[in-house]
Amino acid sequence: MSTVQVMFSGDEVRRRIERIAQEMREDYSDKNPLLIAVLKGSFVFLADLVRAINMPLEVDFVRLSSYGSGTESSGRIKVVHRLGTTVKGRHVIVVEDIVDSGLTLSFFMDELRRRRPASLRLCALLDKPSRRIVPVSIDYLCFTVPEKFVVGYGIDCDEKFRYLPEVCYLED
Ligand code: IMP
Ligand code: MG
Repeated sequence: MSTVQVMFSGDEVRRRIERIAQEMREDYSDKNPLLIAVLKGSFVFLADLVRAINMPLEVDFVRLSSYGSGTESSGRIKVVHRLGTTVKGRHVIVVEDIVDSGLTLSFFMDELRRRRPASLRLCALLDKPSRRIVPVSIDYLCFTVPEKFVVGYGIDCDEKFRYLPEVCYLED
């Protein structure tokens, strides 16, 4: 039976989000950026991020599925829910919960690049570089994390733990 341990408190997360929101405000003033959140894990992060940015922007959502149930990547990426917004000519920021192997994001960033956005950047709550298979460059990052299975703050294990207000991890 695994236990849930806190990795970053709600306050720590809020402070980091304030910092990257400030950078985004400077980088995107008057650009009306389009934030594309990768569901489901990034929904809490996106909600806190847009309110911290507090500047005109738009949001849309995609759902990409790389994990089946459990904690190991299946290595196969499916687009489960497509974008409803035109990307061409837009300043796009992809908002992801956690970059692990990098397979999901490199697939999706390539797909977006083909649609000719005016600019394309990646914002991630968490980076787990120890498990990277495909290189991914993260433009706005809150935290680098060790090789633990993270849950909470929107992130799940088999749909559980998304409600936790802190970024936590499962300990065996
Ligand atoms: P990647 O394609 O391996 O980079 O997988 C990225 C996706 O896998 C993330 O967006 C998460 O949805 C999920 N994932 C990766 N590591 C974790 C974790 O520690 N906890 C929960 N989900 C994770
Ligand atoms: Mg995700």
